[in-house]
Amino acid sequence: MHRITLIPGDGIGPEVTSAAVKVIEAAGVSVEWESFVIGAEAIARYGEPLPQPLIESISRNKVALKGPVGTPIASGFASVNVALRKKFDLYANLRPVKNIPGLKTKFDNVDLVIVRENTEDLYSGLEHVVVPGVVESLKIITEKASSRIARFAFEYARKKGRSRVTAVHKANIMKLSDGLFLDCFRQVARDYPDIQSDDIIVDNACMQLVMRPEKYDVLLLENLYGDIVSDLAAGLVGGLGVVPGANIGEHGAIFEAVHGSAPDIAGKNIANPTALIKSAILMLEHINEVDAASRINKALEEQLAEGQVLTRDLGGTATTTEFTDALISRLKG
Ligand code: NAI
Repeated sequence: MHRITLIPGDGIGPEVTSAAVKVIEAAGVSVEWESFVIGAEAIARYGEPLPQPLIESISRNKVALKGPVGTPIASGFASVNVALRKKFDLYANLRPVKNIPGLKTKFDNVDLVIVRENTEDLYSGLEHVVVPGVVESLKIITEKASSRIARFAFEYARKKGRSRVTAVHKANIMKLSDGLFLDCFRQVARDYPDIQSDDIIVDNACMQLVMRPEKYDVLLLENLYGDIVSDLAAGLVGGLGVVPGANIGEHGAIFEAVHGSAPDIAGKNIANPTALIKSAILMLEHINEVDAASRINKALEEQLAEGQVLTRDLGGTATTTEFTDALISRLKG
């Protein structure tokens, strides 16, 4: 029996997390879920967006499955997503982006992995008004964080049999900050002679990615570029509804989709749960439930490839529930 923290989140979060939980159960994995509210809902109940019992649960369990949580724009509380990653020092954000067999997209040979530094850069939240009408937002890049994320990327490449790590940066303009990130990458690369390494400027990388995405293997990015480029990459393989993610640190891991809380479709039972189910597959691999992970993955890929039961974002008409129930029948059948 595994004990796992569950954060349903808001918007489409509860719909897609409940789908993932049902699929995990159907695969025969026994989990005791500890479920918590977060964000606006937690403020209403606990007076703070990141309640202490949730923090304690993740500290104990070391693994969490998380739905998306909305962050108010330009005012209100700071992102709980960023806060959670910082709190548990989940420094590596991993986003595998791969074509799903049978799912028609502009490309059919994308198989890349985005490794995003998760703890610093412009996400440090250090912003202030210098004088009225002038604000300053601080970009923090450290040798420690840059080297450890580079090492994570090379270790990941080695473990997964991947051949190349490409650092994506803007060191031509941000000579000190991105320059340090790039220097650390090059330094760490020396320890991995078996893995190729190169680098590319972020604007060129975006253009190359939408023209020849098959050229890329593992991409290593700072926090902000990683955030933007992973949405771009998701668009190459079917959109935000199908790309999973993991936030990994030395002492814990939180698994969540790349997408947000999608308020435009929340509560309508039409969200695609694939991204969260794929995140759950990464989680099952992480907790050594490799057989269940591979059975769910196979069933999911078959269902998507057959194309009979698809949600609207993928051109189908199935509801979230119908998609999930079909997947569960496939798993059990
Ligand atoms: P979003 O990812 O929520 O939505 C972008 C577009 O993709 C929308 O049209 C939405 O309907 C569609 N979409 C997203 N997920 C989908 C799914 N599973 N199935 C079908 N369609 C899907 O991005 P947006 O609108 O920029 O952000 C909404 C909120 O989510 C914001 O408050 C933002 O801060 C938050 N957010 C939270 C994240 C997290 O919890 N890790 C990550 C990204 C955003």
